[in-house]
Amino acid sequence: MKKVLITGSNGLLGQKLTDLYRTLPHIELIATARGANRYPTSEDYTYAELDITNKGNVMAIIGNYKPDCIIHTAAMTNVDQCETDKEGCDLLNVFAVENLVEAANAVNAHFIHLSTDFIFDGLHGPYTEDAKPKPLSYYGWSKLKAEEIVMQKAAKWSIARTIL
Ligand SMILES: NC(=O)c1ccc[n+]([C@@H]2O[C@H](COP(=O)([O-])OP(=O)(O)OC[C@H]3O[C@@H](n4cnc5c(N)ncnc54)[C@H](OP(=O)(O)O)[C@@H]3O)[C@@H](O)[C@H]2O)c1
Repeated sequence: MKKVLITGSNGLLGQKLTDLYRTLPHIELIATARGANRYPTSEDYTYAELDITNKGNVMAIIGNYKPDCIIHTAAMTNVDQCETDKEGCDLLNVFAVENLVEAANAVNAHFIHLSTDFIFDGLHGPYTEDAKPKPLSYYGWSKLKAEEIVMQKAAKWSIARTIL
């Protein structure tokens, strides 16, 4: 069995990943989110509360479950909120990623980071993987900073830049 741990499992993508991974054979799913579980069923997977901005909480949960793979979906995704609450955006979209990468490295987990096309300015798409980023919003800037942390500090990593 491979253990997959998802952050932000109450979110849009987190719930879709829970739909998928809880049904797959040979996968043990640990779904984590801030506060109570809002996924409609608690069958076929484990739920653990995890606030990714709390380093102690991150180290304890990841150290306890020792996943083979972490899929990091949790983020401040409201672009306007990121402009008005830059400090909160930094905490969630940048500094929390450092906590998670450190915890992933400690248990030798592969870290899959969700990023976005908002790291680009949108003027010259479609973009290749190595196209030069140029974020126009604080959200895009924060997601780009997070990518840099993942690339520089994670031992085993992938980045998926999704759109809409
Ligand atoms: N949806 C898109 O169009 C899109 C496009 C490009 C990239 N992405 C990226 O894809 C990823 C997933 O996006 P999404 O659409 O699924 O976002 P979402 O629905 O907004 O989900 C994000 C989740 O993060 C959770 N969260 C916030 N603070 C947290 C904390 N301190 N600890 C743990 N969880 C916390 C939120 O919890 P609560 O529900 O409790 O607030 C929310 O459920 C994000 O990294 C985003 O940047 C999304």
